[in-house]
Amino acid sequence: MSDAHHDLESATVLITGGTSGIGRATAQLFAERGARVVVTGRDEHRGQEVAAETGGRFIRADLASPKEIERLAAEAGEVDVLVNNAGYWELGPTSETSEAGFDAMVTVNFRAPFFLTAALAPGMAARGRGAIVNVSTMVAARGAVGMAAYGASKAALEALTRSWAAEFGPEGVRVNAVALGPSRTEITKSMGDLLDTLAAASPLGRANEPDEVARLIVHLAGEDARPLTGTVIAADAGRTAAL
Ligand SMILES: NC(=O)c1ccc[n+]([C@@H]2O[C@H](COP(=O)([O-])OP(=O)(O)OC[C@H]3O[C@@H](n4cnc5c(N)ncnc54)[C@H](OP(=O)(O)O)[C@@H]3O)[C@@H](O)[C@H]2O)c1
Repeated sequence: MSDAHHDLESATVLITGGTSGIGRATAQLFAERGARVVVTGRDEHRGQEVAAETGGRFIRADLASPKEIERLAAEAGEVDVLVNNAGYWELGPTSETSEAGFDAMVTVNFRAPFFLTAALAPGMAARGRGAIVNVSTMVAARGAVGMAAYGASKAALEALTRSWAAEFGPEGVRVNAVALGPSRTEITKSMGDLLDTLAAASPLGRANEPDEVARLIVHLAGEDARPLTGTVIAADAGRTAAL
């Protein structure tokens, strides 16, 4: 008998960027599996909506601020599963990327997961179990015009995934990542047809739906994924596998 779903029952799951898109779908699925959900983001209204939908908690925090990361970790308390999902991107040529835009990408995509994990992983290690799932992009592994800083910030997150697997594995904490292809969320709505054009370039010729990505994230956090740590799963309809 599989107890794969039971292991998430009463686990506390903190999802950054849980106020929208993939993070929101992930919060809903963890809640369905019986987990205690804590979502964080900047938008109070959407945050409270997700808290109500999931029977969970919303903690408002701007991940661009180191102080707020500290406060978030303290308010979240004991966390069994951390999903570093919040992300920020600004597309454009390298010469036109502003320092503020660069800093925002590095801060939200790389710095925030680093210090949030630094605050929460030792507790998991002390309890002898835990899982961290980082949300990356196919642009971390392949070059893309207009996405240099974004791709680099997520490549750093993938490097953290491997180092943390090595660091926390002996204490029973698994750390994995999903590297997403085009996915239909709030942020890609503004891209219009470009999302479909990008999706059409993959072998499967499709974009991810948020609930599909959520299922992968929940899988990686659960006991069914026990052999996996330090992996980056390409959830990109085959885009990075094929020439
Ligand atoms: N959609 C895609 O095609 C795609 C492809 C590859 C990778 N990804 C990655 O997937 C992840 C989820 O993105 P999504 O598509 O679901 O986008 P989304 O719907 O725009 O959600 C982004 C989330 O990040 C949060 N966030 C952004 N900046 C923040 C900050 N400074 N402090 C706190 N929270 C912040 C937002 O919270 P608030 O709105 O509450 O501030 C929001 O909940 C991101 O890491 C993204 O890079 C997406």
